[in-house]
Amino acid sequence: MQRWMDLRKADPRQPANRALYGCLRQAILDGSLPASSRLPPSRDLASELKLSRNTVMHAYEQLLAEGYLRTLTGSGTFVADVVPDNILWTRTGAASRLKTGDDQAPPIPLSGRGRGLVKDASASSIQWGAFVPGVPDVTEFPYRKFTQISARLWRRPPPELLSYSSGGGYYELRHELAIHLRQARSVNCDPDQIVITEGVHQAVDLIARLLGDPQDKVWVEEPGYWGIRSVLTINGLRVESVPVDEEGLAPEARHHGRPPKLIFVTPSHQYPLGSVMSLRRRLALLEYASQHSSWIVEDDYDSEFRFSGHPIPSLQGLVPDAPVIYVGTFSKTLYPGMRSAYMVLPKGLAASFSKAHSELYREGHLLTQATLAEFIKAGYYAAHIRRMRLIYASRRTALIAFIEKWLGSGWLHPYDSNAGLHLVLSLPNEMNDVQVARAALERAVAVRPLSKYYAGQPTESGLLMGFACVSEQEMRAPFEILVECLRAQNAA
Ligand SMILES: Cc1ncc(COP(=O)(O)O)c(C=O)c1O
Repeated sequence: MQRWMDLRKADPRQPANRALYGCLRQAILDGSLPASSRLPPSRDLASELKLSRNTVMHAYEQLLAEGYLRTLTGSGTFVADVVPDNILWTRTGAASRLKTGDDQAPPIPLSGRGRGLVKDASASSIQWGAFVPGVPDVTEFPYRKFTQISARLWRRPPPELLSYSSGGGYYELRHELAIHLRQARSVNCDPDQIVITEGVHQAVDLIARLLGDPQDKVWVEEPGYWGIRSVLTINGLRVESVPVDEEGLAPEARHHGRPPKLIFVTPSHQYPLGSVMSLRRRLALLEYASQHSSWIVEDDYDSEFRFSGHPIPSLQGLVPDAPVIYVGTFSKTLYPGMRSAYMVLPKGLAASFSKAHSELYREGHLLTQATLAEFIKAGYYAAHIRRMRLIYASRRTALIAFIEKWLGSGWLHPYDSNAGLHLVLSLPNEMNDVQVARAALERAVAVRPLSKYYAGQPTESGLLMGFACVSEQEMRAPFEILVECLRAQNAA
């Protein structure tokens, strides 16, 4: 009765039958109404709570339908003996909340590799705004065109498109992508070599599982993208960091022991420093991989956005039958939440990858893939990339102008190659980039410390600054805040 009074006081606008239902359900879950106990007849409860009998009957009926109560003809209404399956989770949640008094459950121990993943997790909770790196301007996405296609397909969707996906994804999308990649990225491919994945992370996960065994050595760039390192590590691979310089991956004598099974590189635009792998290094890497039966994984994450000179052709297309798995994504060209990426596999690997992909992830999203296929075929994709390239180029110019005006020259990282969605601001080595980034974040400005992209001892201090997702006008105020944070750090 007291619980009922409290509930009505807390939310008097809630319909009485819903409130009574919630109150009784809670009492069943926390054991105050134990299994098999008898509920008062609806008429008695109605008069006790000053409710209509209908209200009580409604609440009882709902609880009966959900399996919390049962009736015995002639004997009355009882709490069920067995809790319905779909409330097991709720019961735990409710019980722990009652015990601790808040929503913070004490952490439950994970496996060793789970602990490692969570301890070193780098994904930020802030994914939009000045100066989040690697995020495109999603507000410019031509959603009207996209939804027109999608709405047409939804009018009478073929049932196959609403079921599971198999065979590496929707054929028409793979077909359109093959044309696009051949033209725009000089990738050697036909549609059967393509597998559509839910982002680059899923592609890397599949590569790690199908081509690597626990303790196999893999090379990643240092500094490099933490996401790939995390996926490889949790798959039990031995990740070795190989430094990069202005010509890209630069293995040293110490790396040449047992050859790596997999070599992860970003040759068109090294992530995060920005260098382009030289032709000399490309040929040497292809030669090395062929000799040692290693696979190169080319992560071509943002190479559509190059603001001067010619596009850099892919490593995969440099020689016929290159030992390269090419990986690309729609996250930067369209929007990251689409979670759609693709890999181009050597012909002998494609069928196994496509089969394993369905087996492991039970993929779907065929209707989105069909929409995307039409979007590309109609020329909207290429047009959107062209348009965004101009927008990003002018935002990048604006950011560099701010840097020069407020900080002077020499702050842009020397490997910068005028491309992508972010740049690296080089800091004096004695300046702590983590502290600058933290101070900026406290004032709602998101920059990422370069040192966090090193697995080992960082050799440089800097800040990754995304310029894509804010307009020139919106950059000014956050940039001034950043300058204040840098000055404060310098004075400290
Ligand atoms: C180098 C690099 N590769 C891959 C990705 C992730 O791509 P996706 O969103 O398709 O998982 C990112 C994301 O920022 C990245 O920086």
